Amino acid sequence: MKILGIETSCDETAAAVVTDDGEILSNVVRSQLEEHAPYGGIVPEIAARAHVSALDHIIADAMTEAGTSFDELDAIAVTGGPGLIGGVIVGVMTAKAIAAARNLPFLAVNHLEGHALTARLTDGIEFPYLLLLVSGGHTQLLIVEGVGKYSRLGTTIDDAIGEGFDKTAKMLGLAYPGGPAVEKAAMEGNSGKYPLPRPLKGREGCDFSFSGLKTAVRTTIEKCPAGALLEADIADICAEFQAAVADVVGDRVSHALIEFKSRHPIGDTLVVSGGVAANTAIRSTLSDIADSQNIQFIAPPHNLCTDNAAMIAWAGIERLKLGLTDQLDFAPRPRWPLDPEAPAAPFAGVKA
Ligand code: KG4
Ligand code: ZN
Repeated sequence: MKILGIETSCDETAAAVVTDDGEILSNVVRSQLEEHAPYGGIVPEIAARAHVSALDHIIADAMTEAGTSFDELDAIAVTGGPGLIGGVIVGVMTAKAIAAARNLPFLAVNHLEGHALTARLTDGIEFPYLLLLVSGGHTQLLIVEGVGKYSRLGTTIDDAIGEGFDKTAKMLGLAYPGGPAVEKAAMEGNSGKYPLPRPLKGREGCDFSFSGLKTAVRTTIEKCPAGALLEADIADICAEFQAAVADVVGDRVSHALIEFKSRHPIGDTLVVSGGVAANTAIRSTLSDIADSQNIQFIAPPHNLCTDNAAMIAWAGIERLKLGLTDQLDFAPRPRWPLDPEAPAAPFAGVKA
């Protein structure tokens, strides 16, 4: 079985061809970093237009690289949401057109399900497992029980974790996207010189909060005399910020593991996904926790942790196998929680 996957929900235009035995025949990603860099963040209208002009070429490249013709495909899978709606519409309309023209099954995939099932593509792991999904738009702890079966244990009550890195970088005059820039600067610095809070650490539950940390970074910068922030200070603030985030993530994941094990005593896997999974400090915190609990820790390769279409094609394969296809009247969704039953975060609305 061979599926073409399409991803346009954020600032990557991507297409990939994947087989049901987990072979990635092609995985083409065009980042819009250059278009958005001058604004220090993603501009939805610019993103949608860039998807329109790039998508046809990206799909053609993915098909050529895979050495596949449309006649050899078994289905088309596309991100149906959640995401920036202009971009999602571009992908969904294109996928529908191909499905209609070639008379192929159409699958609208939840972008978060793409991230959630990636570890099954890369490592063939079994359900259930605990997933930490950490990206520019999402910070969630989920028990993955099966295709379409997710139980959310925690989420952020304010900013997403990647947003925290991006905003901190912006305040410190570092490059966009902020995550890699903060990590690089942190390598030259020491934590502890500029103490920052660990929001929600030690509190009950598995939710996250990063807006208080961001405010504390701003206050720390403002306390320095104007123009006196040296490269060494920036490095120290980055080191402390990263240590604070890793501390909080470790605390929240430890709580989630207790809940996971109580619901699934046989569960023995912790998975991380999303762009922030690239962060070495966060990875090593997670790996230490997994070691101490005697469970395996899986972090898919970086290019499959960040937004890509191979994960969408794979989620499409998992759904197609279960007969979970969609109709061509599927409406793109700006919001689409993986676990609609999840209770709202207990402190929601209260900025930490
Ligand atoms: O998953 P992703 O590529 O896109 C979505 O948000 O869906 O994640 C991008 C986020 C950005 O906020 C970026 O700053 C962050 O991932 N990121 C990192 C690192 N590399 C990327 N954050 C911390 N450390 C990194 N090394
Ligand atoms: Zn994503």
